[in-house]
Amino acid sequence: MSVILVTGGAGYIGSHTVIELVKAGYDAVIFDNFSNSKPAVLERINRITGKHIPFMAGDIRSREQLEAVFSTYKIDGVINFAGLKAVGESVKKPLEYYDNNVSGARTLLSVMREFKCYNFIFSSSATVYGEPDSVPLTEESPVKRANCPYGQTKVDIEYMCQELQKAVPEFSMVLLRYFNPVGAHESGLIGEDPRGIPNNLMPYLTQVAVGRLPYLNIFGNDYPTPDGTCVRDYIHVVDLAKGHVAALNHCLNKSGTFIYNLGTGVGYSVLDMVKAFSKAIGRELPYKFAPRRAGDVVQCYADPAKAQRELGWKALKTLDEMAADSYNWQKNNPNGYDD
Ligand code: NAD
Ligand code: UFG
Repeated sequence: MSVILVTGGAGYIGSHTVIELVKAGYDAVIFDNFSNSKPAVLERINRITGKHIPFMAGDIRSREQLEAVFSTYKIDGVINFAGLKAVGESVKKPLEYYDNNVSGARTLLSVMREFKCYNFIFSSSATVYGEPDSVPLTEESPVKRANCPYGQTKVDIEYMCQELQKAVPEFSMVLLRYFNPVGAHESGLIGEDPRGIPNNLMPYLTQVAVGRLPYLNIFGNDYPTPDGTCVRDYIHVVDLAKGHVAALNHCLNKSGTFIYNLGTGVGYSVLDMVKAFSKAIGRELPYKFAPRRAGDVVQCYADPAKAQRELGWKALKTLDEMAADSYNWQKNNPNGYDD
């Protein structure tokens, strides 16, 4: 079976994807520098899969470390999750974001070309659509200049992949635009473990639920949406992980650039999320309204029809499952992987 190198495989989406890859019969090799993850996740992945998944420590900006991986294993394809992802931090540290994300992806692609490994899947984001002119977003919706360096690294890497594919047509470039990944593996053994105070809604909700934070601040309740709070397309991380397997099955060894939205197609407001979460924990989750957060788009949700049509993939898990699984992970691991 094909061997897939999962860069950033110790992270939130990467760890869930490794499990689905192994379940689907792929061999995975994890490569990570632990800049935003902990070694403890590796043993949890092994527990869930019942296998020892090979791991090599390293940074995608290091040609030598990548060459060592490609020399050790016969890699058939790469899924690149390795990237920095905090919007606010990227505004303060633009060079670090371009270096880690863009230079890292460039080095990785260059080593792939050297080793004649032509299957690449990239973790892109709905952020490439900017403030949408209309929803739902299809893959044909315009890609816009991003409003933060993080988002712009996604736009730039997508562009770099497309240009490289034209120059080296053997490449199968798959650009997966994730909407809002939430939830955790049903075992409660792995999940999202952000450093410091979470920036994103779901980890903030889970930390309020276990008492690490007192209440949720809802950023803005005067948006032009049904209840005044912003609308997003939240997708269970296990569905998202399965989307990668479907993309590999379909695109492996095909020549071209393939772009897919990975979302559910349903938009939920922040208040919908609070309601679902309160149901999952069996009590009202405390929240307060706070001013709008700079840079937030009003509503963003996918038209996921292309992925269903071409990959045979569809997100299946409900909002209640997303909330219950997120809570289950946090309840079992109140301090994340430090427990
Ligand atoms: P994460 O931070 O949990 O995982 C990223 C992993 O990459 C971490 O384990 C980190 O240690 C590793 N890493 C970072 N830079 C590296 C480098 N230079 N070399 C080696 N390893 C490195 O993040 P995640 O939520 O799992 O996101 C994975 C990818 O998906 C990211 O590229 C992110 O931008 C993208 N994405 C995430 C979301 C989201 O909301 N979580 C949405 C859209 C896109
Ligand atoms: N929100 C709150 N309170 C919080 C955190 C978030 O009200 O404490 C609100 C936000 O204002 C937004 C919604 O919850 O309306 C979702 O916010 P997230 O930060 O969870 O997600 P975003 O849609 O803002 O960001 C996500 C990814 C980014 C990516 C962006 C665009 O986290 O990496 O989508 O694709 F850039």
